Amino acid sequence: MGYDARFRVWRGDLDGGSLEDYTVAVNEGEVVLDIIHRLQATQTPDLAVRWNCKAGKCGSCSAEVNGRPRLLCMTRMSTFTQDEIITVTPMRTFPIIKDLVTDVSFNYEKAREIPSFTPPAGLAPGEYRMKQVDVERSQEFRKCIECFLCQDTCHVVRDHEENKTSFAGPRYLMRIAELEMHPLDTRDRREMAQEEAGLGYCNITKCCTDVCPEHIKITDNALIPLKERVVDRRYDPIVWLGNKLFRR
Ligand code: SF4
Ligand code: F3S
Ligand code: FES
Repeated sequence: MGYDARFRVWRGDLDGGSLEDYTVAVNEGEVVLDIIHRLQATQTPDLAVRWNCKAGKCGSCSAEVNGRPRLLCMTRMSTFTQDEIITVTPMRTFPIIKDLVTDVSFNYEKAREIPSFTPPAGLAPGEYRMKQVDVERSQEFRKCIECFLCQDTCHVVRDHEENKTSFAGPRYLMRIAELEMHPLDTRDRREMAQEEAGLGYCNITKCCTDVCPEHIKITDNALIPLKERVVDRRYDPIVWLGNKLFRR
């Protein structure tokens, strides 16, 4: 059955803005993005929202609903009671462009800092057979739709702009972990993970895992194994001796 919902939507740009109240019709089976679109069609034609697939696959419609990072197209209206006020705000960690649209270029910059996959020189196609376990490990990480909800929620950068230069965020630490665990990647990525991508900032709160719409176990399957590898390297007696002798 249809009803009228009360929405509170952040309107504004980099110079400032405020939460505005609207009453919008809701039909059975709708998601928050449907209501935002109805708002655009009937009351606020200039409301900015980024979206593309409306199927949870493009990662464009990321925002915060009642303070929780979510995909607008995958958040069903039936998860809220009919009398509650639903607050929709842009992702807090990234600079505002307009209304619900943020500038997510921080993420692309972090992606570019990661050296690409480096297989052994001269390895010809067909010369190496991947084990199924290695295929499955990468496949989980490759489900990522780059919605950046994990990047938005991580407390290391959420309210700490100053950490952005030294922390790549869970999505890109996961990319480093994927490459580090790839049997054909020849680079040792552990020092880069710790020193440049800020792995040590992560204190395993698992908030990133909690908000991932692809249900990737970012913390358990990528960040913790990567931390273990870094520790192995640091406490390896030969590495320790090498550091003592050659890094004075
Ligand atoms: Fe989004 Fe999950 Fe990818 Fe993070 S890991 S960007 S939450 S899909
Ligand atoms: Fe941040 Fe996830 Fe670590 S939320 S602190 S990267 S476990
Ligand atoms: Fe594509 Fe929501 S519109 S994920």
